[in-house]
Amino acid sequence: KNIAVLFGGSSTEYDVSLQSAASVIDHLNPSIYHIILIGITREGTWLRYNGNTAEIRNDRWHTHASCIPAFISPSKNAGGIIELTGTEYRTTPVDVVFPVLHGKNGEDGTVQGLLELSGIPFVGCGTLSSAICMDKGIASQLVRAAGVDTAPSVTVFEGDDLDSAVNEAEKLGFPMYIKPSRSGSSFGITKAYNKLELTHGVQAAFLHDQKVIIEQNIAGFEVGCAVLGHSEPITAEVDEIELTGEFFDYEEKYSLRSSKIHLPARIDAKTAAKVKETARLIYKTLGCSGLARVDMFLTEDGRIVFNEINTMPGFTAASRYPNMMRYSDITYPLLMDRLIELAAA
Ligand code: DAL
Ligand code: MG
Repeated sequence: KNIAVLFGGSSTEYDVSLQSAASVIDHLNPSIYHIILIGITREGTWLRYNGNTAEIRNDRWHTHASCIPAFISPSKNAGGIIELTGTEYRTTPVDVVFPVLHGKNGEDGTVQGLLELSGIPFVGCGTLSSAICMDKGIASQLVRAAGVDTAPSVTVFEGDDLDSAVNEAEKLGFPMYIKPSRSGSSFGITKAYNKLELTHGVQAAFLHDQKVIIEQNIAGFEVGCAVLGHSEPITAEVDEIELTGEFFDYEEKYSLRSSKIHLPARIDAKTAAKVKETARLIYKTLGCSGLARVDMFLTEDGRIVFNEINTMPGFTAASRYPNMMRYSDITYPLLMDRLIELAAA
């Protein structure tokens, strides 16, 4: 089977994608799969890459002499990866594309739209699902309509009157979280304890998106649930983030300096079952297929509150999604096989 792995991407999560993709590539069994690598630079240029994963991890891959311009044609059945060699082109057939891309221009339905047009099966959620899951505001509205709790919030659009938005948001009570509606790995997210921080936070979030969500702080802790499959998805063991610092920001997510991931979560079996059931409901509500990691809060009074969903969760060997699956006896290589089967299904 020819598997094309897409990595990098024109997104603030470019670096995370490099780490995720290198792990994915290292765990694809080379006796089963012929792996074709397509790197996408921060600027958005697609290049066929023929080197090792070390050069992906250290972001030197694009300096490799083997890199040549390559793309997937939106034309149905165009044959796979098209490489440009001078004035000639060469086509390599592809059975499945694995877009290991996080955030904008990769996890948000854009690449999924291209792949749907191309007719090549791909790993993960489709165009609509990827797009709605990327937008925290829209995902929350849909999840709320399905009967799951979400944090009370205020939405601000670029061009809205900032003062009145801030006055409105103040009613949520401090502290509160300010988030670009479409972002990942906590880029652009801040926690505000007063009006000045709130105003600055909104301005900072606008650097990432034209739509900003201000959310009430949920007293409790965060749990995650890894979901795999199509209409009858399975859920793996639930994990828990123990925070000692302020919040799970980019630095914390990838250093785990002052936080800890507990797998399984320190919750009773009944609560864990409820978390999994809620994760499945959210997954179905948002039209997911293939995989997603659903992040929720468990409140002190036992409520489950939706936080966000990731349709291409982090995939490094230490990442939560593959770890949760491994805990449920789906090892990383097995997970790769399953995701590829699901893509072709
Ligand atoms: N957005 C990052 C990759 C995650 O959710 O794991
Ligand atoms: Mg995310």
